[in-house]
Amino acid sequence: MEKIIEIKNLSYSYPDGTAALDNVNLSVFMGDCVGILGPNGAGKTTLLLHLNGILNGNSSVKIGGLTVDEKNLSVIRSKVGLVFQDPDDQLFMPTVFDDVAFGPVNMDMGTGEVQKRVDGALDSVDMKEYKERISHHLSYGEKKRISLATVLSMNPEILVLDEPTGNLDPKHRKEFIKFLSATDITKIIASHDIDMVKSICNKVAIMDKGSIAAFDTKENIFKNKDLLKLHSLY
Ligand SMILES: Nc1ncnc2c1ncn2[C@@H]1O[C@H](COP(=O)(O)OP(=O)(O)OP(=O)(O)O)[C@@H](O)[C@H]1O
Ligand SMILES: [Mg+2]
Repeated sequence: MEKIIEIKNLSYSYPDGTAALDNVNLSVFMGDCVGILGPNGAGKTTLLLHLNGILNGNSSVKIGGLTVDEKNLSVIRSKVGLVFQDPDDQLFMPTVFDDVAFGPVNMDMGTGEVQKRVDGALDSVDMKEYKERISHHLSYGEKKRISLATVLSMNPEILVLDEPTGNLDPKHRKEFIKFLSATDITKIIASHDIDMVKSICNKVAIMDKGSIAAFDTKENIFKNKDLLKLHSLY
């Protein structure tokens, strides 16, 4: 199987000196769905932000063999679709259409193709009728769903999702989980939604205090109750 994400000895401290990642190693294979669990402040978001070069600790992250660095940034960002934990970090255009079309327009797609991408992406999150709405007027859960659409419109090879089910109503949470399990795109998902991770991921990493405390198949992780308790997950 092809290794699509390779993280080697990644450490990162924020500019104020807060150490957030401490020697993280992780490999993800094509088609994997990796859940990242761990308590608040464990470093989950910080790790995900390294996958498309928003943060750059050192050159120890590779996507499809390409090092995540300044030179490869635009190729990396066309492959890796990252959905932020906070949708207000994702949506910045006046309307939903503009936000979802932003990626395809920047990839110089024609008007017809852009329309098709936007319609397809909005359909996937059940938000087709929101096209002309003003992004910053939407409810938090609506913004979460549009945020996912802004990334789906790019047809990414890898979906990186930070707490994607937060604030979704039960119906749309269920539909979202169904949608994710139906796509075979490689996924890496940080979440406190253990049931979601249980139902769609094949592998699980537990992060704590900036390190990967365990990385194994979903079955092995969830049967180890002592491990889960140790990391505030049970
Ligand atoms: N911009 C920042 N400046 C300084 N420290 C930060 C910054 N962002 C995060 N941190 C710190 O880095 C550590 C890891 O934070 P991170 O947001 O990655 O955790 P997390 O596992 O995603 O938590 P949560 O479950 O709450 O989303 C925490 O100690 C946090 O306080
Ligand atoms: Mg986080």
